[in-house]
Amino acid sequence: MYRKLRFALIGCGRVSENHLGALTCGQLPSELVAVCDIDEAKARAKGEKYKLPFYTDYHAMLAAHPDVDVINVATPTGYHATHVIDLARYGKHIVVEKPMALRVADCDKMIKACQRNHCRLFVVKQNRFNPAVVAARKALDEGRFGKLVMGTVRVRWRRTQEYYEQDNWHGTWALDGGVMSQQASHHLDLLQWFLGPINNLHCRTATRLLDIEVEDTAVATFQFKSGALGAFEATVATRPQDLEGSLSILGEKGSVVLGGHAVNKILYWGFSDARPEDAEIHQLFSQEVPNVYGRGHTPYLASVIEALHHKKPGMVEGHEGKKNIQILTALYESAARGGVLLKPGCPIRRSRLGEKKKR
Ligand SMILES: NC(=O)c1ccc[n+]([C@@H]2O[C@H](COP(=O)([O-])OP(=O)(O)OC[C@H]3O[C@@H](n4cnc5c(N)ncnc54)[C@H](O)[C@@H]3O)[C@@H](O)[C@H]2O)c1
Repeated sequence: MYRKLRFALIGCGRVSENHLGALTCGQLPSELVAVCDIDEAKARAKGEKYKLPFYTDYHAMLAAHPDVDVINVATPTGYHATHVIDLARYGKHIVVEKPMALRVADCDKMIKACQRNHCRLFVVKQNRFNPAVVAARKALDEGRFGKLVMGTVRVRWRRTQEYYEQDNWHGTWALDGGVMSQQASHHLDLLQWFLGPINNLHCRTATRLLDIEVEDTAVATFQFKSGALGAFEATVATRPQDLEGSLSILGEKGSVVLGGHAVNKILYWGFSDARPEDAEIHQLFSQEVPNVYGRGHTPYLASVIEALHHKKPGMVEGHEGKKNIQILTALYESAARGGVLLKPGCPIRRSRLGEKKKR
């Protein structure tokens, strides 16, 4: 029997509820010990709701709770690198929200800071734990698709101008990026997780309906090292409502289409080696979700706890999280250069992701 791991959360904004709910739902061997937000009202609200001490300074929180095992970082993306590097010196394991950071160089610094301090760095990719995604990935691992032909992801979500105006970081180059970085980073992660390393890509972006610095709409194509192709489209300018967050995998021996708003339903499942259990797969592995964040934080955090207890690799640690930032960076670079063909890891000259505002 392992003891419960003690968690503390930094950043009491929108996604924090998924962490707090998961850590207190009674399904995980976890104990939540404290929360922190520089906005006192937000810290207080979560502290009172979960009956926890709350802080406005994470150093003060860690001084008061030196026995914390894991720190969850749910602050704006552009601060992830600063916060993770600053926190690593406490030697606590860290779970950082997606996307891991805005620049590949920052991912490297975060990974090194955690290595230096003998702590592990996990990156939230909760969609990998959606039952529908788990079932499709199992089919892939069993070779049921055969030779892969194509993967497609589509994110057709609605974000309003008010969404971007409720804080000063969403929709900025310095702290967020656009639909690719903020919303579709999950789907890009799934595409590379299913189809493997990318040989090259090209990307076009546009800002069609929202008054923001960054893109609200993007399209891209990929060629994977396997030779399979990938198609990507994402927009937060879908009106009048969210339509879908979907993933299709097509192979020589079968195809799967996952959809719903958050890759949460099996829409099509067909293989030439049909098995009896396939008949029930839609029903058993499709899930209703309350919002586009889905229900994956609980199984994701369960996997982190298991990886720590059993000292085994986590599903998404620093190097795996960094792959997503390499892809995003190449997409932004390609778009900035008018849609040229690029490889992930290409030299960056024009991408503005993570760019600090000139004063
Ligand atoms: N996994 C998912 O599905 C998912 C969903 C939404 C957001 N996210 C990610 O989670 C992160 C947070 O997003 P959000 O929508 O919750 O943002 P948010 O703006 O609602 O919350 C961020 C909070 O961090 C606080 N903060 C900033 N600096 C701080 C500091 N130094 N110490 C303590 N608190 C600090 C802010 O005051 C704010 O309350 C982003 O990286 C975002 O991309 C992930």
